[in-house]
Amino acid sequence: MHSPVVVILMVLLVATSAFSGYVSPRNWQRQAEDEFLVGVGIADVTGPCTEVGMMGYASASQVSTGIHFRQWARSFIICSGADECVVFVSSDIGMMSAATTSLVLDKLAIKFPGLYGRHNVLLSGTHTHSGPAGYLQYFLFQITNLGYIADSTDAIVEGIVESIEAAHANLQPGHIWYGETQVNDANINRSPMAYLNNPVEEQNRYEFDVDKTMWLLRFDDAQGNPLGVLNWFAVHPTSMNNTNTLVSGDNKGVASMLFEQALNPESLPGQGKFVAAFAASNLGDVSPNIQGPKCQDTGLPCDQLTSTCGGFVQLCVASGPGRDMEESTSIIGNRQFEAAYELFNNRSLLVPIIGSVKTKHQYINMSSYEFQELSSNGEMETYTFPYKWQPDVVDTSVVLIGSLAILGVPGELTTMSGRRMRDTVAKVMNEHGIVDPKPIIAGLTNVYSDYVTTFEEYQIQRYEGASTIYGPNTLGAYLDQYKFLVNATLQGLELDAGPLPPNLLDDQISFVFDPQYDGALFDNYGDCLRNPYPSYRGGETVDVIFRAGNPRNNVRRGGTYLTVEHRQNDDTWKVIGTDANWETKFSWERTNSLTGESEARIQWTIPVNTEGVFRIRHFGDHKQIITGTISPYSGICGPFEVHATG
Ligand SMILES: *[C@@H]1O[C@H](CO)[C@@H](O)[C@H](O)[C@H]1NC(C)=O
Ligand SMILES: *[C@@H]1O[C@H](CO)[C@@H](O)[C@H](O)[C@H]1NC(C)=O
Ligand SMILES: *[C@@H]1O[C@H](CO)[C@@H](O)[C@H](O)[C@H]1NC(C)=O
Ligand SMILES: *[C@@H]1O[C@H](CO)[C@@H](O)[C@H](O)[C@H]1NC(C)=O
Repeated sequence: MHSPVVVILMVLLVATSAFSGYVSPRNWQRQAEDEFLVGVGIADVTGPCTEVGMMGYASASQVSTGIHFRQWARSFIICSGADECVVFVSSDIGMMSAATTSLVLDKLAIKFPGLYGRHNVLLSGTHTHSGPAGYLQYFLFQITNLGYIADSTDAIVEGIVESIEAAHANLQPGHIWYGETQVNDANINRSPMAYLNNPVEEQNRYEFDVDKTMWLLRFDDAQGNPLGVLNWFAVHPTSMNNTNTLVSGDNKGVASMLFEQALNPESLPGQGKFVAAFAASNLGDVSPNIQGPKCQDTGLPCDQLTSTCGGFVQLCVASGPGRDMEESTSIIGNRQFEAAYELFNNRSLLVPIIGSVKTKHQYINMSSYEFQELSSNGEMETYTFPYKWQPDVVDTSVVLIGSLAILGVPGELTTMSGRRMRDTVAKVMNEHGIVDPKPIIAGLTNVYSDYVTTFEEYQIQRYEGASTIYGPNTLGAYLDQYKFLVNATLQGLELDAGPLPPNLLDDQISFVFDPQYDGALFDNYGDCLRNPYPSYRGGETVDVIFRAGNPRNNVRRGGTYLTVEHRQNDDTWKVIGTDANWETKFSWERTNSLTGESEARIQWTIPVNTEGVFRIRHFGDHKQIITGTISPYSGICGPFEVHATG
């Protein structure tokens, strides 16, 4: 006979060790309508972190010089049967492009034939403006970064595929919970003049001129242990402004990292099992810079319509709640994390998702709506383009699971555009007898086609209206299309694929050249050129410099350019930080273009409550002048001591 305590312990042990590994959607018997096969995965998508334009601000002077923290693809797979799966991936990148999406789908077709494809894969970008550019096939989005960059594209494509493979490899029976919460003080409307042109009755239905709602899915295994979280909250990840040149996931990346650290306390960033994605929604007119746009010279608000100060656009700068952009990134990231974490941990606020997974995808040709109007104003014809200026064919996709609807939209919908789309879809679902429908806008999915405003906002021609490339009826066209898609999904109708988008990958041009040679004349690659002080206190910053090669010689995706190491009692060194940590910064500078000499600077802001002996290592690759051979090197700065604060 076992004592009751032993029996309970045994039951607990059995319960926690019940996961016996991968379960294939093809030979799984679903036990209940609230049971799904679920899998989560994460992988690095960071591309070249030096000498490459950054995607988002279209600022030619914003050229990357290093890494603040890495960009990740976070994948979630949900199946209710072998032919009822959906893959949702949120990546810390500017947006998905037609090129990256089709390359990912080509690889999935080989690795998972018949399982994951165009019909059930939604790839979304968080819209960080601090990642390497060069992966969009349409010319409009490539001008400022000097064209197509294969290393950028490859990192995104390979990272996304890896994260999907990881999610697939841990598919297991589990449950999904849904909840909503409000995130306060994390977003403002950056074009209130345009918003105010919407009908007053419509505005009166809402308390704010931005959505404060966060929509959240919690993924658990069969025993109720957390596997992951995926949420949507409308805000631009533009807390880092266009003067930043270090790769960063911005506020969404911070929120993800904080959540993952909380649930994977022993793991380095990107290495833990639990995956937390903070995905893009209808963020078109939504800024994280909640102090609003102010004139640098007077401190007064900028002109609301033109965002200028005395006629000068340069003087008008929007800033966040922090003392500088990094602190703002941290604050806005923390606010999203805290809201999500509280909701995630409060069962009384979560309801189970019940139903089967239904997906639909269709290409549509937006040119038939407004393209002619754009070209008739002359702008399109005054320029001969080397290849297509912007897409005319875009992806539209929906995922329905019971009362949940995820709407994959190909652009940046404004607040009111998103509200109209959710209303439209909810109405169709109601008509099919679905009570309490939960439509969610998944922004910047599968392809990028700029902004989508309402017809009324368009008339004001603020930045978003002027960037609504298919004209004033763009939203009208999308409302029709998503109504049609959701209805077709619920009716179980077969749809044609729509017109295929052109493949422009073979036509791409690039003015970004291969890295030049490296040199180390009087020292060796990896030598410590600036040593750390002998000792520090928590809160201080270690700031060291190494003789380096160009990081672009090897993007080290899935690896790191640096480690922070802590000496253990047995004199071995334990890695406690990489270039993916918030506390570290990696930056690179070519100091002599004739000799090819360059330096890597590594900063580590020591967390308070840190004590012990530490060192900093740098890993890189250098390129030889004549042969072009690329060889790895590494070096060490330190050791140094860290004493308790106070
Ligand atoms: C960017 O942020 C920094 C503070 O981190 C500020 O000094 C600078 O004026 C900002 N620039 C723009 C263009 O917003
Ligand atoms: C969960 O949410 C409810 C409703 O907002 C609240 O009353 C309760 O205190 C929360 N529970 C916890 C543990 O936070
Ligand atoms: C989209 O429509 C326009 C205008 O009708 C047409 O010129 C273009 O070829 C179409 N694109 C595709 C890929 O079908
Ligand atoms: C849904 O589709 C059916 C069949 O095509 C059609 O009869 C019905 O009018 C559609 N409903 C909506 C709301 O579009």
